[in-house]
Amino acid sequence: MRNSILNVSLRDRSYPIEIGAGLLGEIGEKAAPFVRGRAFVVTDDNVAPLYADKVCAALGAEKIVVKAGEESKSLKTAEDVLETILARGCDRRTVLFSLGGGVVGDLTGFCASVLERGVDFIQIPTTLLAQTDSSVGGKTAVNARAGKNLIGTFYQPKAVFIDTDVLKTLPRRQLLAGYAEVAKYGLILDADFWDFLEQNADKVLSLDEDALCFAVRRSCELKARVVAADEREETGARALLNYGHTFGHAFEAASHFDILHGEGVAAGCVYAAGLSRKLGSDVDVDRIKRHLKSVGLPVCFDSFKTSELLSLMKKDKKTVSDRLNFVCLKAIGRAEIVKDVDSRLVAEVLES
Ligand code: GLY
Repeated sequence: MRNSILNVSLRDRSYPIEIGAGLLGEIGEKAAPFVRGRAFVVTDDNVAPLYADKVCAALGAEKIVVKAGEESKSLKTAEDVLETILARGCDRRTVLFSLGGGVVGDLTGFCASVLERGVDFIQIPTTLLAQTDSSVGGKTAVNARAGKNLIGTFYQPKAVFIDTDVLKTLPRRQLLAGYAEVAKYGLILDADFWDFLEQNADKVLSLDEDALCFAVRRSCELKARVVAADEREETGARALLNYGHTFGHAFEAASHFDILHGEGVAAGCVYAAGLSRKLGSDVDVDRIKRHLKSVGLPVCFDSFKTSELLSLMKKDKKTVSDRLNFVCLKAIGRAEIVKDVDSRLVAEVLES
């Protein structure tokens, strides 16, 4: 199958997303126009042994390896990366490549946005979650003691290069967690895509090239459209991408992050559909639950205390002055923001 190229339309900050199976084999040639000075590839110690040397050789770049895992999304690691680059030599033409999942992408984007007041960066995402969500849209962040992603910037990459072949080395649990975000796009924006996923999830998750490339491309198209409409999450359009996330973040935090982000989101999509029904929608909750469960994603977490989950939701950075706002479904493929939801209704959903 030929590579697809999409565009994120943001005036002078527009950029291409190129998607294809085996694209890493051509990364030197593809990324050459973006390399004007010294290049660094930031990656983690899971991805480094698999792909980093090849990518660095193709780009003529130097490698910086951080420890895999959420702890690397810290100011301390950002400082280490920045000091390493500065010690090796850097100027305004320096370019950073992130080669990894969401942690590496968010960390590298953050470093690029502050290094010499902003140098170019390019995303090469290697997890399904990063390929379909976090590498597109320019949210960069590290975690703070007060919560996840609380220190960050909006800073768009110059390009995103997605090789779906790298998903062959991704652990199944991570692949499924990324699938939750893919399914979310169908739920909030595109009923036909949801139908496609219901019919083709086995192919997507067994990495059938056509089905997988289509699912990644459609997710990126939908995300690009939303980001172009509301880059800085100001009008409400981008906030729809947080469907399932208020519940999901609470499950993740209550489990002390044993639950993966995508797993929390999967169950969160089911609970948020349940809440939508309580608020008057006739969305088919069982249909959503059936599909997510059929692929092996969790659809319910009942071991946490409702009071703890509610207090975590109130601390979520999307919460406005203690009132709970939720993304709800009017139907599969159509989402809306509902403000000031009565927490008793949320408690009923959590306990149902
Ligand atoms: N992951 C949600 C967003 O990029 O806005």
